[in-house]
Amino acid sequence: SRQFPLSRIAALGLGALLASGVGAQTMTRDNGSPIGDNQNSQTAGPNGPDVLQDTHLIEKLQRFDRERIPERVVHARGTGAAGEFVSAGNLSELTRASVFAAAGKKTPVFVRFSTVIHPSGSPETLRDPRGFATKFYTDQGNWDLVGNNLPIFFIRDAIKFPDMVHSLKPSPITNAQDPNRFFDFFSHQPESTHMLTRVYSDLGIPASYRMMDGNGVHAFKMVNAQNQVSYVKFHWKSQQGIKNLTRAEAAKVQGEDFNNLTDDLYGAIKRGESPKWDLYIQVVKPEDLGKFPFNALDDTKIWPGIAETKIGTMTLNKVPENFFETTESVAMAPSHLVPGIEPSEDRMLQGRLFSYADTQFHRLGANNQHLPVNQPLTKVNNYNSNGAGTAVNPVGDVNYQPSRQPGSYAEDAQYKGVQTPLSGTTQQARIAVTDNFTQAGDFYRSLSKQEQENLIGNLASDLVKVSNPEIRQTMLSHFYKADADYGTRLTAAVKGNLADVQARAKKLEG
Ligand code: HEM
Repeated sequence: SRQFPLSRIAALGLGALLASGVGAQTMTRDNGSPIGDNQNSQTAGPNGPDVLQDTHLIEKLQRFDRERIPERVVHARGTGAAGEFVSAGNLSELTRASVFAAAGKKTPVFVRFSTVIHPSGSPETLRDPRGFATKFYTDQGNWDLVGNNLPIFFIRDAIKFPDMVHSLKPSPITNAQDPNRFFDFFSHQPESTHMLTRVYSDLGIPASYRMMDGNGVHAFKMVNAQNQVSYVKFHWKSQQGIKNLTRAEAAKVQGEDFNNLTDDLYGAIKRGESPKWDLYIQVVKPEDLGKFPFNALDDTKIWPGIAETKIGTMTLNKVPENFFETTESVAMAPSHLVPGIEPSEDRMLQGRLFSYADTQFHRLGANNQHLPVNQPLTKVNNYNSNGAGTAVNPVGDVNYQPSRQPGSYAEDAQYKGVQTPLSGTTQQARIAVTDNFTQAGDFYRSLSKQEQENLIGNLASDLVKVSNPEIRQTMLSHFYKADADYGTRLTAAVKGNLADVQARAKKLEG
């Protein structure tokens, strides 16, 4: 049976009522009153219509009619699991984040893995980046590390995100995803060459969420007790290794089980094979940020040559009991930060700091942090109040700050954000050094011959669907600029495929 939080019931003075409540197994209405008949509606006589006084029937239908909330605008299809993070050491030289205060310190976590573009219930076998979002329930509030399996992103400015997603989502006319639309968009964004190369490699279809890495993608700031700043990138490394599906394997799996990633993860956890990831960081001092040959805060870039240090291990060992209450209702937001971890100036991250909490106000309501999966372990002390779905309000007469009344909340200057030096004027301009192609080429050259072959086959199979030659040509030129061999082989594959497609079309016409 469902129970409201006991503290709340005590506050309302209803404890005695709860103790003398109806039998545990008796079905009740939402007001708690027992139900006599859940099989037959109340009718006026044996053949008469239903009566308005059948409030149980009406309430049951009303509640059913309202069971859906808006799905996430991206990352709608997800799989959640709970577990624990254990810090590998004391990181206080780098950060005062309490989660890293001592070796062996344990913090509960909830992770939501996801696909990106397709709706809730869509196949898990489709080519897409994969979301890897972790909520750490730390003793200084919730910290969400909302990352992806790939270490970089398509674009570097949040202002482009809605257009990019529109181009990748189904066409407003056909309701089907269309490479004509997204390659049209990407042909204007040469910085997407690196991410497209990774997404169209075998990494674009993981065989298992267990056998996939996670990345924070952006740089974040770690800040220690002396307010010294380090820029860091986070990387979850799977202890299970990495495993992907080729296009042909994915087609086969999809024909048999398109919930393959969920089934694999939950199957393993239920068998007691709790998957584990080690968390690594790369650390760069502010004075060294400018030493990269590219902009170190550009999220289309990895930081090559910077050593990774292990800072902890996460184990996922629990399948949530209810999908809607956890996986669907979890509100992961890059703005959910804790003392010692702050955002960098990366302009994609800056946009994300706003967008997630905003969409969650729309998707889950202003009080989404009251939902059990989103509640911090720490007590929430502020005067935000009221609104639809309020579960707890501030107690007492003082609901403002500052106040001279005893018991009012006070701020604590040690938790102020770090001061960041600034220069220049406000502006609207792209970053000075774009370097759109080097790392895409480096990645291509790091692949084995077979992996390169798969990448070219995967990309060609979508580029061939693009009917506008200028879009196709521009895309091919981007891949050529990344690596001449890559561009040449891809062009040949597209031409070969095009010739095949045209010959088949001619045959059909004949
Ligand atoms: C989900 C926006 C870039 C990873 C979402 C959601 C929005 C959003 C609105 C839905 C959240 C919800 O309903 O709870 C944006 C914007 C971006 C951006 C505006 C760029 C400016 C990125 C990047 C990453 C990422 C770069 C990877 C580092 C995720 C993940 C989720 C998500 C993992 C799913 C979270 C969950 O499982 O609940 N994004 N996103 N996004 N995004 Fe982004």
